[in-house]
Amino acid sequence: MIVLLHGFLESLDLFDDPSTSLRAGLSTKLSKSFRVISIDLPGHGQTPTLGYMHSMKLMAECAKSVLDSLGIRKYVIVGHSMGGYVALAFAEMFQQNVAGLCLFHSTAMPDSEEKKKDRDRVAEIVMNDHTQFVSDLIPKLFAKEKITILKEEVAKAKQVALNTSKEGIVAALKGMKERPSRELVLKNANFPVLFIIGKQDAILAWENLLLLAQLPKKSFQLVLEHAGHMGFYEAPEETFKALRKFSSACFRAK
Ligand code: MLT
Repeated sequence: MIVLLHGFLESLDLFDDPSTSLRAGLSTKLSKSFRVISIDLPGHGQTPTLGYMHSMKLMAECAKSVLDSLGIRKYVIVGHSMGGYVALAFAEMFQQNVAGLCLFHSTAMPDSEEKKKDRDRVAEIVMNDHTQFVSDLIPKLFAKEKITILKEEVAKAKQVALNTSKEGIVAALKGMKERPSRELVLKNANFPVLFIIGKQDAILAWENLLLLAQLPKKSFQLVLEHAGHMGFYEAPEETFKALRKFSSACFRAK
């Protein structure tokens, strides 16, 4: 069983969307070998905004209640970017349920002081007009060399981001700003951890992520030369195969 947690301004539609030609996404491909659950985190996709701030812990508790209601007890959690922050908060509280963890373009480090200031700046911009912010941000998540080839994927990511409510965006920004370091979760992990890292990632420097990948006892890395922050679109086969192999190994180890 694999749980997919999307990133900031995303929804479960990014892992699969039957309404576009981007049909055979990560979720469909993985579901040939595993049961796959993707969840819209609070304030994203079909899940409403729950409050003024969505901490990573609150989002993890929401994911846990979905999984509990399905009666599922052990899973590999794959978190894309903000979804990875949520996955770490999840593992901190519910380690016994985690068979493996994938930080997909994500980190256990907290925001720098500069990044925290930027979260406040962005929250203000978003409250006035989030369309410009979204239109500027989304293309930056892709490697430059991929933007033209992946026109449809960029458009899809933009459309999902534009459908995210202002309140949902601001609550996530506040939650990310307040998140603590979760390096200890990696250090104490009794489950394997896979790091998927994009060499062209404009949000997270690959060198820092490789250093972080030294922390877990059982650590695996996939470094994508030609991907930015959106590996499931930029390197779909490579990321799918790495996740399939990693997940099989996690369940075999149990
Ligand atoms: C994401 O893609 O989820 C965000 O870029 C994460 C962040 O802003 O830290």
